[in-house]
Amino acid sequence: MAQSVGAYQKCINPACGAEFDVAESIFKCPQCGDLLDIQYNWDKIKVPDKFAVFGKRWAKRDKPLDFSGVWRFRELLNFCPDKNKVTIGEGQTILQQNRAIAEHLGMKPEGLFLQYEGLNPSGSFKDNGMAAAFSHAMMVGAKSCACASTGNTSASVALYAHSCGLKCTVFIGSGRIAFGKLSQAMDYGAQTIQIQGDFDDCMKQVQAVCVELGLYLLNSLNPFRLEGQKTIMYRIIEALGWDVPDWIIVPGGNLGNSSAFGKAFLELKQLGLIDRVPRLAIVNATGADTLTDLVNNKKLAWNGGHVNRKIIDDYYADLTARHFSPHTCASAIEISRPVNLKKCLRAIDVCNGVVLAMTDQEILDAKALIGKHGLGCEPASAATIAGLKHLLANGTVAKDQRVACVLTGHTLKDANATVNYHKDKQGPFSNPPVEAPNDLQEIIKLIR
Ligand code: F0G
Repeated sequence: MAQSVGAYQKCINPACGAEFDVAESIFKCPQCGDLLDIQYNWDKIKVPDKFAVFGKRWAKRDKPLDFSGVWRFRELLNFCPDKNKVTIGEGQTILQQNRAIAEHLGMKPEGLFLQYEGLNPSGSFKDNGMAAAFSHAMMVGAKSCACASTGNTSASVALYAHSCGLKCTVFIGSGRIAFGKLSQAMDYGAQTIQIQGDFDDCMKQVQAVCVELGLYLLNSLNPFRLEGQKTIMYRIIEALGWDVPDWIIVPGGNLGNSSAFGKAFLELKQLGLIDRVPRLAIVNATGADTLTDLVNNKKLAWNGGHVNRKIIDDYYADLTARHFSPHTCASAIEISRPVNLKKCLRAIDVCNGVVLAMTDQEILDAKALIGKHGLGCEPASAATIAGLKHLLANGTVAKDQRVACVLTGHTLKDANATVNYHKDKQGPFSNPPVEAPNDLQEIIKLIR
């Protein structure tokens, strides 16, 4: 069985490029402060030459690591020994072909797929990342962990910490989190600290706390987490018969997913497991659109890793000067200083990506459309369908292309958003409850 041979951490800044052992938990390059990547010496890893090997493991379901939607792809994230690998059954998610929504959007009916990550144990895609990051935490012998969160990370961290026996503290912005997610953190026994500030404030504080107290950090700054999130893409192409769709559409918040997806496709292409990469569309909310603004208006680009830092610094200085705090109904992506920005620029480069921002109204209408015709999702996830509608209208996505939208979180995560949309008749898909007297004939008259 493949063990942790040939994996190392590497700074993504080409001017630095420092390398570190995978046994270190440093989360940022100690030499230049840039992001770290997990890199593999592929020649030392026996990667199956056919994707079908991964699916066969799952089909047998006789071993927890083979059942895991993350670890059955273990050769593609081969940084830790099997004995440290953690799984609680993450990644049993489905790719739903959705003809009704495709038709509503004027696409070819067989062209739209929804990757439903709400089926994960904590109800969001985060569990893919946590299975990997907690395995690393076990490998380095961590005893306590922490994260900042808009809600789903804290729910997932709390759940995995509880099952691994780690002490856990989560930082959330006061009043910035949907109740379903807050309830999970409390229920799974995490210490929950509500900071008077937004996610970006929490992210800053948690990094300082982790350094000060030696806690293991579980935000997507942790490069091991992103390795787990690559598997969402493996499962999509597996479900398509090992074929790559034309487009992947994903919401953009802290930009961990988009970064992980770009890395996944880059590696699969290098390994010869796929012959082309899909295009990537990353969708912000207009109230938290740093990526969109930087890429589309300020022309920030990967540029072979030589990212123009001054554009970012000036942008953030302006946010600070204006006391800007992001606001959107899609609270999961209410982030204005995304920590994975540079890796996301690389993903855009690898996948010929586009970025765009949708209004809260467009997001809520898309969410209701998904609820009506699909498995439902929380607002941030619906930014994908809102974005797709826009990309079809301006011709970026062709009506006959194959598109996979990642529905990142379960609809019950933010029941308030759903109830308010329907009860307060906030949009064309509102389906409010009907008041009825306690009288059979009157009730019968009301049935549609
Ligand atoms: N969708 C959902 C449901 C999320 O919870 C998040 C992020 C995103 C999309 C954005 O993903 O950060 O990879 O770009 N939630 C984080 C959290 C920030 O703390 O739960 P990203």
